[in-house]
Amino acid sequence: MRERTETSEDAVSVEGLVKDFRPGFGLVRKRVLHGISFDVKRGEIFGFVGPNGAGKTTTLKLLMGLIHPQEGSARILDHDIRESEFRRHVGFLPENPYFYDYLTGVEFLEFYARVSGVPRGERPARIEQLLADVGLSHAGGERLRNYSKGMLQRIGIAQALIHDPTVVFLDEPMSGLDPIGRKEIRDLILRLNEGGKTIFMNTHILSDVEMLCHRVAIIVKGQIRFEGGPEDFLSAGHGGVDVVLSQMPPQALLDLEEQLELEVRGQGERIEANVAEKSLPDLLRGALAAGAEVVSVTPHRASLETVFLDAVEQGNQDDGSANRAEGGAR
Ligand SMILES: Nc1ncnc2c1ncn2[C@@H]1O[C@H](COP(=O)(O)OP(=O)(O)OP(=O)(O)O)[C@@H](O)[C@H]1O
Ligand SMILES: [Mg+2]
Repeated sequence: MRERTETSEDAVSVEGLVKDFRPGFGLVRKRVLHGISFDVKRGEIFGFVGPNGAGKTTTLKLLMGLIHPQEGSARILDHDIRESEFRRHVGFLPENPYFYDYLTGVEFLEFYARVSGVPRGERPARIEQLLADVGLSHAGGERLRNYSKGMLQRIGIAQALIHDPTVVFLDEPMSGLDPIGRKEIRDLILRLNEGGKTIFMNTHILSDVEMLCHRVAIIVKGQIRFEGGPEDFLSAGHGGVDVVLSQMPPQALLDLEEQLELEVRGQGERIEANVAEKSLPDLLRGALAAGAEVVSVTPHRASLETVFLDAVEQGNQDDGSANRAEGGAR
C-alpha cells in the first residue's frame, strides 16, 4: 500500500452507525451494521474492504443519504449527512449503475450535467474534458449499448465527476473488469487523487487496494475489524524484525537464542534471526559484543492479505461465540 503524509482533517467521519433491515414482511429485523466508526482523511484514497455481504454498499448508501440509520451519525466535509447542500461536493458511482443504453456517451453526461446543475453554457466543454479524462473521447458519439463493461465503468465515473466534486465515492469500481480494464480504472483513480480529490472506494480486490489505497477499513459482518495504513500492519500482531548477522560465534548465538526466544535460520557465515520488536536492542547489543557484524535489520510487515484473513477469521469466531451464547440463553 502507499504511504502518505498524514493530514488531520477528515473528509468523512462515521460514528456508531447502526442499520437494521427487515428482510421479509414480518417484524423480524436483521442487524447489518453494528455501530461502525471510521474516518477518511482529506486527500487520501481510502479502501473500504470486506467480504461479500459485509455491509459495504449499505454503508455507502447511508453516507449518500439514500437510506437512514437506526443509530449513529456521519459527517462528510464537516456537514452532517442529513444536510443536503454539501452534496454538490460529492460524487457517487453506485454498485450497479443503471445505464440508459439508447443514449450516447455525450447525451448521458449531458443528462447528469443538467441534473447536477452545471450551467448550460459550461456543459459542452465540461463533457469534452471529462470524456478525455476517462479516456473516452473517441466514443462520446456512440450509444452506451455498444460500450464494453470497462467503458461503461469509465463513463459511470465521468458521471460521478460531472460537477467537479471534492470527494468521490465509488462502489466496486473494478468489478467485472479484465486486468487491462482494471488498470485503466486504477490509473484514472490515481490521476483524480493527484488532482486533489479524496477517493472512497468499496472493494474486495486486495491487489487493487495494495496498489491504490493509503488507508483501509476492513468490515466483516457489519463490524469494523481493522482501520489504518501499512504502518499499522506492523503492529497488527505479526510484528517481529528480521536481522541478518555475519561472523556470529556459535556459543553467543546459542545464548541469545535461549535468552530472547529467537527464530534462527542458517548457520556459519550468515545467520538470519527473527526477533520480537521489544528484544531487538538486546539482540543487536549481544551480537555486536560477541564480535558479529549486523548485515541488515528489516521489520517484518504483515501483508494486507494476512490482515484481511485475520479480520475475517476474528469476525467468524466472534459470530460463532455470539450464536452459542444466544443458544445457551434459550
Ligand atoms: N434492502 C435490504 N433488505 C434486507 N437486507 C439487506 C438489504 N440490503 C442489504 N441487505 C443485507 O445486508 C447485508 C450487507 O449487504 P451489503 O450489500 O451492504 O454488502 P456488501 O459488503 O456491499 O457486499 P458485496 O461485496 O456483495 O457487494 C447482506 O446480508 C444483505 O443481504
Ligand atoms: Mg456491495
